[in-house]
Amino acid sequence: GDDRIAKIASSIRVIPNFPKPGVMFQDITTLLLDPRAFRDTIDLFVERYKGQDISVVAGIEARGFIFGPPVALAIGAKFVPMRKPNKLPGEVISEEYTLEYGADVMEMHVGAVQAGERAIIMDDLIATGGTLCAAIKLLERVGVHVVECACVIELPELKGRDRLGDRPLDRTSCLE
Ligand code: PRP
Ligand code: HPA
Repeated sequence: GDDRIAKIASSIRVIPNFPKPGVMFQDITTLLLDPRAFRDTIDLFVERYKGQDISVVAGIEARGFIFGPPVALAIGAKFVPMRKPNKLPGEVISEEYTLEYGADVMEMHVGAVQAGERAIIMDDLIATGGTLCAAIKLLERVGVHVVECACVIELPELKGRDRLGDRPLDRTSCLE
């Protein structure tokens, strides 16, 4: 393996019982405090995606807005925010998705991407995979090819990977 990954993993703080009892919250703000770990995280994704004709990095609110833009700049792609409802000012398309409790909606600007473009989707963490599935649906509805989903952390026991179908999941550090 890559020895950068162990350092990235150890820079992520785990906070028990946040936001509710029983959850072990993976907190990437401590990774951001460590410039070496933050740099290595971005470099690992850039090394994987550069030269693959990817023109879109779609980032999921909120923490996909931290990891997505530096990767987009480094590979020469545009950054497209995937947002919570009623945040984007232009015309949007929306996708509803289910959370552990209840439902949420994700939105993307119409016209931000064109049919036939190749995209990756970035977030900090995949749990059930519901969030990434909604992002995949939005992009595929407008004819974009989702090459891969990229997360810093996977919670493998929740099997979110299985919900992504044939769009593979890449992850930088895996905490369980
Ligand atoms: C977290 C995380 C992912 C999502 C993963 O965001 O940053 O976006 O949950 O969960 P899933 O794989 O089960 O869908 P959250 O919904 O807490 O929103 P936030 O980033 O706006 O706080
Ligand atoms: N950290 C951040 N987001 C999350 C987590 C977590 O541990 N679990 C589900 N969404």
